[in-house]
Amino acid sequence: MKTDARVSVKLDELETLDLAEPRVHTDYDLSEVWRHLRTDEPVYWHAETPRQPGFWVLSRHADVASIYRDNTRFTSERGNVLETLLQGGDSAAGRMLAVTDGSRHAELRRILLKPFSPRALDVIVQRVRSATCRLLVEAVKKGRSDFARDVAAHIPLATICDLLGVPDADRDYILSQTSSALSSDEAKPEAVDSWAAKSELLLYFADLVRARRATPQADLISLLSTNRVDGADISDDEIMLNCYSLILGGDETARLSMIGAVLALAEHPEQWRALKQGEVTSESSVEEVLRWTTPAMHSGRTATEDVVVDRRTIKKGDIVTIWNVSANRDEREFDSPDRFRLHRSPNRHLSFAYGPHFCLGAYLARMEISAMLDGLRTFVSDIKAVGPTKRIYSNFLSGFSSLTVDFVPDQANIERGLLAGPMR
Ligand code: HEM
Repeated sequence: MKTDARVSVKLDELETLDLAEPRVHTDYDLSEVWRHLRTDEPVYWHAETPRQPGFWVLSRHADVASIYRDNTRFTSERGNVLETLLQGGDSAAGRMLAVTDGSRHAELRRILLKPFSPRALDVIVQRVRSATCRLLVEAVKKGRSDFARDVAAHIPLATICDLLGVPDADRDYILSQTSSALSSDEAKPEAVDSWAAKSELLLYFADLVRARRATPQADLISLLSTNRVDGADISDDEIMLNCYSLILGGDETARLSMIGAVLALAEHPEQWRALKQGEVTSESSVEEVLRWTTPAMHSGRTATEDVVVDRRTIKKGDIVTIWNVSANRDEREFDSPDRFRLHRSPNRHLSFAYGPHFCLGAYLARMEISAMLDGLRTFVSDIKAVGPTKRIYSNFLSGFSSLTVDFVPDQANIERGLLAGPMR
């Protein structure tokens, strides 16, 4: 079954289309619009409205990559997503990695790179693999399940908790606060509940930072509490914000890519067969899943000086948005970009951005998706999406918050897997 119920937008509607409006992404298929912009207006001025300032929209792969590369002329320090940029700034600027630039960004990033290296993540990745297998086997045995709720929801957040050293006893609490604070499920989330949950999370991390300063352990919070930037300790405030940003950056994005992968495999049976029969590698499959799903649709920057791009002048102070969702379908970069092909190579997608702010969690996210694809090809013999699917409500994230599927078990492998020992 085809699950994209969105309607196509006609090009004469372009002038009235507000890309900052979440419903535009939830209700409309913008493929034609992006194709037109890439071809005819690659540096497009999205006019101001009575509610918000105007902003530039860049849609070609080459332009998006070059803006990502240049964090001197295009800074993240006034915000890196439309929502904060249109509000006039991000209160975490200069303290949270993603909205910090210059030498402070480079130093903070250098410290954080260590716990995100493949070697440091070895134990965490093993836990991801066994938890994914266990959850998948449970879902497969049920036959019909909501993959989003039963499998995908449990992996990324638990992994971030492992990284941060959140004690097991507190994890249900973190899960419930995170879904109230950040969920993009609903068109009108209760703003008050969401703010209360955000404050609860920040207070929780403030306590954890104090505890780790007193007794450091082998986790990311302890690492930040015992390191210095610009010759000074990293403040509690900064550590708290960076913990929070890992949940912001790494939970929903990774979930959306896993959910989108299962949906894509159900919709492309020939690709599923290629995966199941081992005709494609996990590595190329993971990259195509990332390109195809593009969980983070855009990033935002502010120009620090006048810059000419494709013969248009972006003025100092202008808001610039770069659209991964369009760059990842750019026919100048990808052969048959609208086809889902697990063996695609090369695959220079921009789902994790590029350059100085390249996603810190890219290796971890790749391992999460890879564990899920390996689990599917081992324990499942067929997948059918039976709906209902539910698109999330956001101008920044793209994907589904629920996905009902029928898994046909691969009985022989399930029995073999169970015999091999407990899957934690
Ligand atoms: C499929 C999953 C993911 C996607 C699509 C994704 C996407 C991105 C993108 C596009 C950026 C660049 C933002 C910008 O330049 O403004 C970014 C940065 C970042 N991501 Fe991810 N991400 C994912 C998973 C993760 C995970 C699992 C973590 C950590 C647990 C993480 C942590 C971060 C951090 C800390 C940054 C900021 C890096 C910096 O500014 O130097 N992400 N991510």
